[in-house]
Amino acid sequence: MGCAYHVKDMHLVRLTYPGKISKEELYKIVQPAELKVVKEFRVGKPLIDDGWRNMLILGDNLPVLKALLQDDRIRGKVRLIYIDPPFGTGSIYRGKRHISASSEDEIAYQDMSLSPEYLEFLRRRLIFLYNLLAEDGSIYVHMDVDAIHYVKVLMDEIFGIENFANDIARVKCNPKNFERRAYGNIRDSILFYAKNYGKNVWNEPREPYTEEEIERLFPKVDKDGRRYTTVPLHAPGETKNGPTGQSWRGIKPPPGRHWRYPPEVLDELDRRGLIEWSSTGNPRLKIYADEYVKRGKRIQDVWLNYKDPVYPEYPTEKNLEMVMKIVEVSSNVGDIVLDAFCGSGTLAVAAEKLGRKWICIDISPLAIEIGLKRILELKTYRPFVLVNATGRELPERLRKFLEGI
Ligand SMILES: C[S@@+](CC[C@H](N)C(=O)[O-])C[C@H]1O[C@@H](n2cnc3c(N)ncnc32)[C@H](O)[C@@H]1O
Repeated sequence: MGCAYHVKDMHLVRLTYPGKISKEELYKIVQPAELKVVKEFRVGKPLIDDGWRNMLILGDNLPVLKALLQDDRIRGKVRLIYIDPPFGTGSIYRGKRHISASSEDEIAYQDMSLSPEYLEFLRRRLIFLYNLLAEDGSIYVHMDVDAIHYVKVLMDEIFGIENFANDIARVKCNPKNFERRAYGNIRDSILFYAKNYGKNVWNEPREPYTEEEIERLFPKVDKDGRRYTTVPLHAPGETKNGPTGQSWRGIKPPPGRHWRYPPEVLDELDRRGLIEWSSTGNPRLKIYADEYVKRGKRIQDVWLNYKDPVYPEYPTEKNLEMVMKIVEVSSNVGDIVLDAFCGSGTLAVAAEKLGRKWICIDISPLAIEIGLKRILELKTYRPFVLVNATGRELPERLRKFLEGI
């Protein structure tokens, strides 16, 4: 990971709280859920049917994950996990729209308070998720700022601090003007870990530069009207014996630095007009905007453009484009992606749009109903099954909804 070179003995750091059980005990006490297929959904016949069915699962994810761990097609084969668990806010989320929900609206789900119970609730699920993940898989855990620091320590325990890739700061909403003696909170966090950092599937994400960025980064214009900037031709680090440490055109690299290229390459760059000489005879390399920006810019760990929908179908529904970006970057077409707290099924929708296999789990019948609607509303989707893992009859409202489809 990014910081492995400056951590030491961090595996000795542990979060301590009452009720924390060992992994062995966890495996012993959790019984796998029975995964009962209620209904299969499909649009026509799949071109190639390998028997795989995407799964929308109603039930508590802990016994469901235990059941999935017993399936050879799934254990160690999940390429990407995105979870957006309850944040430990203690809130009750109702109806479709949290913002305008009234106390009459049906409860979508009730969050736990931030507490040892909450942390243990999450930790147990993270342990199972770790074992479901493929060796080149990744996990993204969406959290708010109150819980994130505790969860980071838990993630380090389970996944290893050396596999920590990013803590992405995501701007979630517009600025708030509530009166409080603190700054407005407009961001949450997404912790990104690889199962084995460096081996993780990584489809380099790039985004286009804006006009304003191009003008700022490439302030100069040449005689042909092309925008460019210049950068030093030397880089940090001394080369004692090699050619990049020697004089070029009678100029030595400044102390503690070396030429970026050997003399013959510098000559060639100059011949092609790619070196700009200052009035004092200082050479700098020209970088042209039209060539440089072609690849787009690397995405950084502050995400400004993925605010959540203002009128969501489901309370706490996440930005679909953001989830699609995560799926695109950290999995390939045909891979299995999983969300164990799927709410309105944003990951399933993203996976469908991007040709990934998916498994989505939620304990709330309302979440499953809304998730089901969102998938069915897609013009086309691969065959999937609705699974009842509650060990009970389906709730009446969901049964009626299914009858009406
Ligand atoms: C923050 S919401 C997820 C929203 C989702 N990302 C979306 O875009 O709609 C958290 C979800 O976790 C679900 N949940 C809470 N405890 C659960 C459990 N033990 N098993 C499965 N789902 C659970 C809740 O019902 C809720 O839908």
